[in-house]
Amino acid sequence: MSKPKIFITRAIPEKGLEIIKEVCEVDIWQEELPPSRADLLQHVHGMDGLLSLLTDKIDSEVMDEAGPQLNVISNLAVGFDNIDVNAATARKIPVGNTPDVLTDATADFAFALMMAVARRIPEAERYVHDGKWKTWGPMILLGVDLEGATLGLIGLGRIGKAMARRAQGFDMRVIYYDPNEKPQTPDLKATQVDFETLLKESDFVSLHTPLTPDTHHLIDSEALSKMKSNAVVINTSRGPIVDPEALYKALKERRIFGAGLDVTEPEPLPLHSPLLTLDNIVIAPHIASASRTTREKMAWMAAQNLIAGLKGERLPNCVNPQVYFD
Ligand code: DGY
Repeated sequence: MSKPKIFITRAIPEKGLEIIKEVCEVDIWQEELPPSRADLLQHVHGMDGLLSLLTDKIDSEVMDEAGPQLNVISNLAVGFDNIDVNAATARKIPVGNTPDVLTDATADFAFALMMAVARRIPEAERYVHDGKWKTWGPMILLGVDLEGATLGLIGLGRIGKAMARRAQGFDMRVIYYDPNEKPQTPDLKATQVDFETLLKESDFVSLHTPLTPDTHHLIDSEALSKMKSNAVVINTSRGPIVDPEALYKALKERRIFGAGLDVTEPEPLPLHSPLLTLDNIVIAPHIASASRTTREKMAWMAAQNLIAGLKGERLPNCVNPQVYFD
């Protein structure tokens, strides 16, 4: 019997690839950059399965170009805003994602960004490299403390909770705003507040919510104007949750203390972005889940979803379980 055909839109860790290769005929996009739209449409044609990344826009055109035999889309990410899930559901195509395995790596990175901005670490490094370090000085590169500060989490899902646990170890007070009002687990000393209170009371505002029409530019000029003057904004979720122009103005005018972004709008951030002219921002290239082990686990999980879909079995992690209802 012939093997199912699948397209993988970029090279992924061997841990996932090796199990896929055992059961599938695999076409892998080997370039460093994602396939262009035309390349994506060409390569997906006639495929039974698709393993996509957050850089690939998977919409009804892609699904139709693949053809009616396409029976699974497995996204190598926990977020899936790059996929038109409704279009997949309408075609009874299950969509898989990779939750849980990246929770700690992502929370570690968000925390690292928070500390880097608070204690101005990249700025300090530039200071040394630029030969500005002449002596120890009582007023040099003063930052803000984590101890006793209030961490405001927007979203108390898996990663939000992992942030809350880390913050407890740093003696921070934790408050959160979550429109889905997730019940908090007893070990988490986090207080639920409304959005306005979170903005007003937080020293650190960290975003852990998916990108939806409701969260697009949630952090806009109005939200930023309600924050404390020492506030730090951290974004490891999706770039468009923060309005970049509003953030630039708030940072430039020193209306907030700083920002740490692992995700930006757009991605990659163009070199001419005004954000790159500021010294009170730390920007990373969307790498919060980029530890070797985490990426291996993500690849393994994406492979499991893909193979289950190809066999007609329920995906271990399916974002549109409605496809299994009649
Ligand atoms: C995700 O999984 O959604 C992250 O943004 C990348 O790991």
